[in-house]
Amino acid sequence: MKKGLFSFKKKALLVLFGILLMAGSAQGQAILSGDRSVPVEARNGMVVTSHTLATEVALEVLKKGGNAIDAAVTAGFALAVTQPRSGNIGGGGFMLISSQEKQEVVAIDYREKAPAGASRDMFLGPDGNVDQTLSRFSHISAGVPGTVAGLASALEKYGTISLAESLAPAIELAEKGFVVTPRFSKGVKSKQKRLFKFEAGKKKFLKPDGAFYEPGDIYIQSDLAETLRRISKNGVKGFYEGKTADLIVAEMQRGKGLITLDDLKNYQPKIRKPVSGNYRGFDIYSMSPPSSGGAHIIQILNILEKYPIKNLGHNSAKTIHLMAEAMKRAYADRSKFLGDSDFVGVPLGGITSKKYAAALRADIDADFASISQAILPGNPAGFESDETTHFSIVDGFGNAVANTYTINFSYGSGIVVEGAGFLLNNEMDDFSAKPGVPNAYGLIGGEANKIEPHKRMLSSMSPTIVMKGGKNFLVAGSPGGSRIITTTLQVIMNVIDHRLNVQAAVNAPRIHHQWLPDEIRIEEGISPDTVRLLRAMGHNVNEKSSMGAIQSIMIAEDGTLYGGADPRRSTSAAMGF
Ligand code: DON
Repeated sequence: MKKGLFSFKKKALLVLFGILLMAGSAQGQAILSGDRSVPVEARNGMVVTSHTLATEVALEVLKKGGNAIDAAVTAGFALAVTQPRSGNIGGGGFMLISSQEKQEVVAIDYREKAPAGASRDMFLGPDGNVDQTLSRFSHISAGVPGTVAGLASALEKYGTISLAESLAPAIELAEKGFVVTPRFSKGVKSKQKRLFKFEAGKKKFLKPDGAFYEPGDIYIQSDLAETLRRISKNGVKGFYEGKTADLIVAEMQRGKGLITLDDLKNYQPKIRKPVSGNYRGFDIYSMSPPSSGGAHIIQILNILEKYPIKNLGHNSAKTIHLMAEAMKRAYADRSKFLGDSDFVGVPLGGITSKKYAAALRADIDADFASISQAILPGNPAGFESDETTHFSIVDGFGNAVANTYTINFSYGSGIVVEGAGFLLNNEMDDFSAKPGVPNAYGLIGGEANKIEPHKRMLSSMSPTIVMKGGKNFLVAGSPGGSRIITTTLQVIMNVIDHRLNVQAAVNAPRIHHQWLPDEIRIEEGISPDTVRLLRAMGHNVNEKSSMGAIQSIMIAEDGTLYGGADPRRSTSAAMGF
C-alpha cells in the first residue's frame, strides 16, 4: 500500500516534471520566435551600428531629411573616430545600396589595393615560408586605403548632403572627445603590443602622461580631427594628395613600406554589380568579387533550398549537419576560384547556379559527415571575364544601405600614421601569401588570390540586401573574417526559414564550417544533445568564442522597420524614429 502511494507520488512528480519541461521548451520556442528578443521598432528610419554614438549621429541625419546614403557616410566617418579598432579611414570595405530613385541595387567596392611595388612572394622569408610578422604587423602589410574615396563616391552618386556635412559630426567627436566605454578601454589594453610598438601609437592611444584611458574619461584625437578637416575642406584630394598623403608616405619611408604618392593619387573605388540569387521566393543581393561573400552565401542557400529546413528545426542536429556540408563545399570552391575579378576570371555564374548546387547536393549524405580532405573544389560552369564593422541603414524614402568596412585585424597593422592620427590596415594578409598556406582566418587560397600590383585582396565581407517582390526586406552583414559569410547566411535563414524576428535572428547561437579545418565551430548555446548527435554523424564539433556582430534591419510588409543590434558587442545600438 505504502509502496503504491509512493509510486503514485512518483508518477505525479514525473507528470509535473514533464509539464514543466514542456513549458520550458514552449518558453524556449517563444524566445526563438522572438517574444523575448524585442527588436527596435520604427516607421521613418532605422540605423543599426556597432557604436551608440555612430548610430546617434546617423539617425540625426535621417531625422533632418537626409537619405540612408547620407546617414551611412556620416556613420562611416563617425565610427572612424569612436571605434578605432575597426571603424576607419585607413582601410577599406564594401557598400551595398538599394536605391529607390534608381530602382537598382549597386555595390561600391572601396577595398584596399596592393601598392604598385607589391609582388607575389613579398611575404616569404629566406626559408621560403610565410613571415607572418611581415604580412600582418609591418608597414608592407598595408594596402592602399579606400574608405575615404568609397564613402565620398557613395555620397556623390546617391547622397543629398555634402562631404563636409557628412564629416562634421566625426570632426566634432574627434575634437571635443567622447566618453570612453569599457569596451574601448579593454580593447586598447588587450592589444598593447601591437599598438605601442611605435611612438605614434602611444600618442594616439595613451594619455599625455602615458596612462591608459579608463571608462568615463574623455578621449580627444586632435591629429585625426585635423586629418578629417583636410578631407572636409579639399574633398578626396584632402586625403589622397597634399599633407595627409605626405604623412602616409613619410610613415612608409620610416617603416620600409610600399605605398607611394602615386598609389594614393591613383586609388579609385569601383561601382560593381552585386551578385544575386533567390531563395524561397526572396531575392538576395550581396557583395561580388573581390569579395567571396555574396557568391558563397548564394551558393549555400541554393544547396539548402531543397531541404525542408523549417521542419528540420532551428539549430537541430539535422539542420546543422546539412548547413555544414553545404558550407564545406562552398569554402572548398572559395580556395580555388575566388579572387579579384579585375585580375582573374571568377566563375560567378557557375558557382551561384541552381544546377551546380544540385550537383553538390547530390554528393551530400543526409546522415553522415563527409571528410573535408576528400572534398575538392568543384567544377562550376562558365568562367566570366579579430575586426571589421558592419552597419545597416534604412530611410523612409525606400533606400537601404548595407556597409561593411575594415582594417582587417582589431586595430589593423597596429601602425598609426604619425601626425595623421589614424591606423593603417593589414589587409595584405588577405592575399594568399603562398599557395595552400592559410591566412589569419585559416583560409586557404591559390593562384586566383596571389599578390599582384594594384590587385584587391580577396575578402569575405558580405553586406547583403534581401528583397521580396521588389521591396527591401532585410539588410544585414557582419565582421568576423572567414565567419562573415556563414554568420550573415544564418541571419538570412533565421528570418526566412525559421521566421524569427530580426533581433532573435541576430541573437541566436551560430555555427560555422569553412572546409578546412574540418570542424563545426559552434557558439555557446547549441544544446549538448545536438552536439552529441552531430558527433555521431561523424562531425568534429568545437565550441569557441562568439562569431560575428550582425547589425540588421527587417522591413515588414506594412513598412514598419525592425532593428536588431548584435548583443555580442556591448556598444551595438539600433535606433529608429
Ligand atoms: O575582408 C575580410 O574578409 C577580412 N579582412 C575581414 C576581417 C574581419 O572581419 C575581422 N573581424 N573580426
